[in-house]
Amino acid sequence: MKRLFNIGLLLVSASLAVGCFNEDDRNYQYFPNMYESVGYEAYGSYEVFENSQEAKLPVEGTVPRGWKPYGFEDSNEGYQNAKASLTNPLPYTEDNVNEGKALYTIYCAICHGDKGDGKGTLAQREKILGIPAYNDAGRAITEGSVYHVMFYGLNTMGSYAAQTSEEERWKIDHYVMDLKRQLNGAPKREFVSEEEAEMMMKENASDESISGTEMSEEDQNDEAQPETTEQEDMTEGEQENTEVNQK
Ligand code: HEC
Repeated sequence: MKRLFNIGLLLVSASLAVGCFNEDDRNYQYFPNMYESVGYEAYGSYEVFENSQEAKLPVEGTVPRGWKPYGFEDSNEGYQNAKASLTNPLPYTEDNVNEGKALYTIYCAICHGDKGDGKGTLAQREKILGIPAYNDAGRAITEGSVYHVMFYGLNTMGSYAAQTSEEERWKIDHYVMDLKRQLNGAPKREFVSEEEAEMMMKENASDESISGTEMSEEDQNDEAQPETTEQEDMTEGEQENTEVNQK
């Protein structure tokens, strides 16, 4: 009799367990602390934090790695200051100008035209109006103003700060000033020799005027380490576990 009762109890509880199973829901968790860690989740909500939000904004003034703040404001005054005082820190070498040309063709020529005369495809199709030629006397562009405009954009022209690195923008800058000279029929600027270029780059590196485009070896190691060691230190089982947890 007792045995029958036990079997009955087992059947009832089994059918209850199966009956409550819902394919659209999460399964039952045994040992839930295996799945729900004690640590805070990056985007979790916990009362201990201000706004109950775990993810915090970086401290004010934080500078992301590989990024250097740009010292001129996005205002007319900032534009005028950059125009007057900012100069290209990259040496005017054939390589830099050629790379600038390639980048210019990708990002700028569609509006400004291959010659910089403001007659690119989008201008011809009247999609964008008011594109100036680089030798427009009223604008009198300089290395500084060209960089400033690439960084912040200007009216219908968007900013190129996200698509290009600081170094790439300065390369484009060299090429834009080249186009301006060509449009004016001015003589070509002479390239800087390799040795001179190297000297310039060394000086620049010491006063960090184009830091952010190149990292020191130490920095690069710093960056590579956490990833590789994490991967290597994990046994296969642990790796599987993290995969399961992510699912
Ligand atoms: C979508 C079309 C478009 C593209 C692409 C574009 N520009 Fe422009 N650009 C304009 C327009 C329009 C103006 C005039 C803006 C104004 O003065 O209102 C302008 C103005 C300029 C000026 C003159 C700014 C001044 O000081 O008066 C420069 C220099 C310039 N662009 C450089 C570039 C460079 C370099 C690129 C590529 C990285 C580029 N532009 C890409 C449309 C474009």
